[in-house]
Amino acid sequence: MDQRAIGVFDSGFGGLTAVRRLRAIMPAEDIVYFGDTSRVPYGNRSRDTILRYARQDTRFLRSFDLKAIVVACGTVSSNCLDVLAAENDIPIIGVVEPAVRSAAALTRNRRVGVIATRASIGSGAYERAFRRLDEALEVTSLACPLFVPLVEEGRCRPGDIVIETVAEQYLAPMREKGVDTLVLGCTHYPLLAEVIGNVMGPEVTLVDVGAESAAALRALLQERDALAPEGTGAAEYYTSDRAADFQRLASLFLGEDVTGQVGQVDITKY
Ligand code: DGL
Repeated sequence: MDQRAIGVFDSGFGGLTAVRRLRAIMPAEDIVYFGDTSRVPYGNRSRDTILRYARQDTRFLRSFDLKAIVVACGTVSSNCLDVLAAENDIPIIGVVEPAVRSAAALTRNRRVGVIATRASIGSGAYERAFRRLDEALEVTSLACPLFVPLVEEGRCRPGDIVIETVAEQYLAPMREKGVDTLVLGCTHYPLLAEVIGNVMGPEVTLVDVGAESAAALRALLQERDALAPEGTGAAEYYTSDRAADFQRLASLFLGEDVTGQVGQVDITKY
């Protein structure tokens, strides 16, 4: 048993979709979340900048006594998970491998798709992970750079003409490829699951990277006998921009009210 908390970070709110899942499947765990809302999005930035930000995010989280960190950001996971893992003496779990494993197991027609930020797709990390598992899979990757800003604006529901138009434009080529499994390779995208599902059709299975990384962490902690003892875990949230804004949007991503649990951090100091 290990009572230390689990750290989770993302460029913004997207990682909260992973926290939601963590809390559902491991309710006894304490969680410390950091969302770098003053510098979101990461997905259009260079690898050097993404790595610099990710190191600061990790250093901030390491100021707490943690047993593991979930990099709940597809962009950081795709671009620099190996560096963070090498620099830290606790497990650092990313979102790419668990989602790819799940998608490869789910596909029936061996045609899989990945949608993510420009930096995630540009890194080739998802494609490499699929190739390592199964050379014969046909993988189609697509960057959807407008999805994150639209989600952060709350434009994510069916019936919203802006997000529906953007989704239709982005996803038409993916639909034409005939994929039967689509990895939502950015932790913001589960908020768009309905919109994306409507465009892709009911026969396409959507894989939520945040949920898969939460399941992978639980398996790892179980294997190491490092789960928290029974009880109800606490959650603390930190943001690099206004706490009030975080509180408002966090409820959308998390499905629960976090008023009074949010602190503001000057991340440039880490
Ligand atoms: N949630 C991040 C990801 O999974 C959002 C990307 C961004 O900051 O652009 O990639």
